[in-house]
Amino acid sequence: MGSAEAGGSALGFGVAGEDDRQARRVLRELGRMPAAAAPLVQEVRERVLVLALTPGETEDHGLIFFHAGEDTSFSTMTTTPALPGCTVVAHPLVRHKMALLRDRATPTKLFQELVSELATLLAYEATQQLPLAPITVTTPLETTRGERLATPPILVPILRAGLGMVDGIRALIPDARVGHIGLYRDHDSLAPVEYYFKVPPGIASHDVFLLDPMLATGGSAANAVTALKRSGATRLTFLCLVAAPEGVRRLHAEHPDVPIFTAALDRELNAHGYILPGLGDAGDRLFGTK
Ligand code: PRP
Ligand code: URA
Repeated sequence: MGSAEAGGSALGFGVAGEDDRQARRVLRELGRMPAAAAPLVQEVRERVLVLALTPGETEDHGLIFFHAGEDTSFSTMTTTPALPGCTVVAHPLVRHKMALLRDRATPTKLFQELVSELATLLAYEATQQLPLAPITVTTPLETTRGERLATPPILVPILRAGLGMVDGIRALIPDARVGHIGLYRDHDSLAPVEYYFKVPPGIASHDVFLLDPMLATGGSAANAVTALKRSGATRLTFLCLVAAPEGVRRLHAEHPDVPIFTAALDRELNAHGYILPGLGDAGDRLFGTK
């Protein structure tokens, strides 16, 4: 193991063991190989384990990846120590589709399809903790044991743009029932204004996935979570496609029990509360209203 200092992080390097067949795709924060690791990678020209620990972090939270030749490993899912509670789903398919989604030239139909597909990919990651119940299955040959979702989650899109994420998740979980929360942002104050609320009965005993492609100031999401908790929801997860750090911080501060899954964590909000680089107005692009 060698070590070096880079940008305030302690880096440790070691050549991967023989039995490390698969590159471990865990690269957090940087999204690229730390510069300080490059000389070792060139020297060894093999797979290399890189750990980058910021002061006070355990090894589990550091950067870990293997570099094979010119091929840098990227994570499929990263958590962001700077923004607790937020998981960025960074699968290559997600990144590919996000670039298409952001493109101002993407037409409405393709935009709708991409939102739906991205919701499916996000849901795959966000449903990892869903409880299972044992079942007996009879195959054509014999009886065996299997599992099913103990209780299908309830999906709650925030109108309008959250609607675009529903079908993509129901493609995975056809039994999921759907509630609706109508919210719009006041143009001047950016504060959310609620105009509709209806959720299925029994919400207290189900996982609830709150859906909205955009987490900007966080006002809409935080307001929606408060309303859902008031109606009995206890296990909530928020799924979005683009999050601003401001929105992540607000939602986590107001509802630290609600994990956030996003396809992208963007730079900042502009003076009008739009996410930069973002994708513009998600509702307008989904429904062709501009
Ligand atoms: C957008 C978006 C979110 C909200 C995010 O909806 O779909 O609901 O803004 O912003 P926030 O985090 O600052 O609250 P909008 O208010 O434009 O309504 P629409 O979907 O009906 O267009
Ligand atoms: N709502 C959107 O649709 N886009 C943004 O960038 C911010 C809020």
